[in-house]
Amino acid sequence: MFISETAFDQASGLRMMQNRNNVKVIAVTGGKGGVGKSNITLNMGIAMAAQGKRVMVLDADLGLANVDVMLGLRVTKNLSHVLSGECTLDDILVEGPHGVLIAPATSGTKSMVELSPTEHAGLIRAFSSLKTPIDVLLVDTAAGISDMVLSFARAAQDIMVVVCDEPTSITDAYALIKLLSNEHGVYKFKVVANMVRSLREGQELFAKLTRVTDRFLDATLELVSCIPYDNNVKLAVRKQKVVVDAYPKSPAALAFRSLAAKAATWPIPEQAGGHLEFFIENLLEYGQRKKREELSE
Ligand SMILES: Nc1ncnc2c1ncn2[C@@H]1O[C@H](COP(=O)(O)OP(=O)(O)O)[C@@H](O)[C@H]1O
Ligand SMILES: [Mg+2]
Repeated sequence: MFISETAFDQASGLRMMQNRNNVKVIAVTGGKGGVGKSNITLNMGIAMAAQGKRVMVLDADLGLANVDVMLGLRVTKNLSHVLSGECTLDDILVEGPHGVLIAPATSGTKSMVELSPTEHAGLIRAFSSLKTPIDVLLVDTAAGISDMVLSFARAAQDIMVVVCDEPTSITDAYALIKLLSNEHGVYKFKVVANMVRSLREGQELFAKLTRVTDRFLDATLELVSCIPYDNNVKLAVRKQKVVVDAYPKSPAALAFRSLAAKAATWPIPEQAGGHLEFFIENLLEYGQRKKREELSE
């Protein structure tokens, strides 16, 4: 069983909850590692926080460069303690620059794909009982196309797909978009071209991707940002800072700030879709669906 019935009941009950803030949920994906997902998530998050939003960054990337490590933050508890029920999501949040809240990932090698039913229920419970008020939740997803990446992507209101000018980046992004559109009912994608040498290179990269998606998939892609290749990004990383903070006037910082301002205007869908509860329910639905699939096998 992928997820417990108790968790399902709990989350259904959440629909009744009143007076919760509308939360914008954005998943940052890409299919491939090393394209800049974590840097984009953090820089966007910190820029949005500086612009006055209450931002939480969920580090769902279990790669080597964990978000908390990137910021040089001292972390004692992480998502694994939440999943095991030892503490709440509120307990593990650490504050980064401009008050951005980071939910650190589990350290270690265990893949999120292997979440036990209890842990999966724990994750959902963690979100449903979050007390800290937030306006924006940014999810930095892992490389690859694991269940966890898919479930976060389909639960989010906006999916950003990060690509850079490497053949494997385009093919991996395509594979991710294909899976989400063919099998998970997700048709809208916001593309970020990262590490581009010019605006034109970014547009060409986007064209390369849409040539195949337009032809073979039922998916709509929008180019939302071209982030320049900027050595300041790497210099900042080395100082355990992000570029918007360490080099606020650099070309990449400007691009990140403008992306953050743009993302703040993306509408939160009407109906329940704007609520964090909806995000949780979507996460849950995925679990239920997996369960049905397992049963019918
Ligand atoms: N716009 C950029 N310009 C220069 N280097 C970049 C840029 N974006 C990311 N990088 C570098 O690329 C590497 C991978 O970035 P990271 O955010 O960790 O990728 P991911 O999370 O997709 O694995 C890092 O060394 C980072 O400093
Ligand atoms: Mg990363």
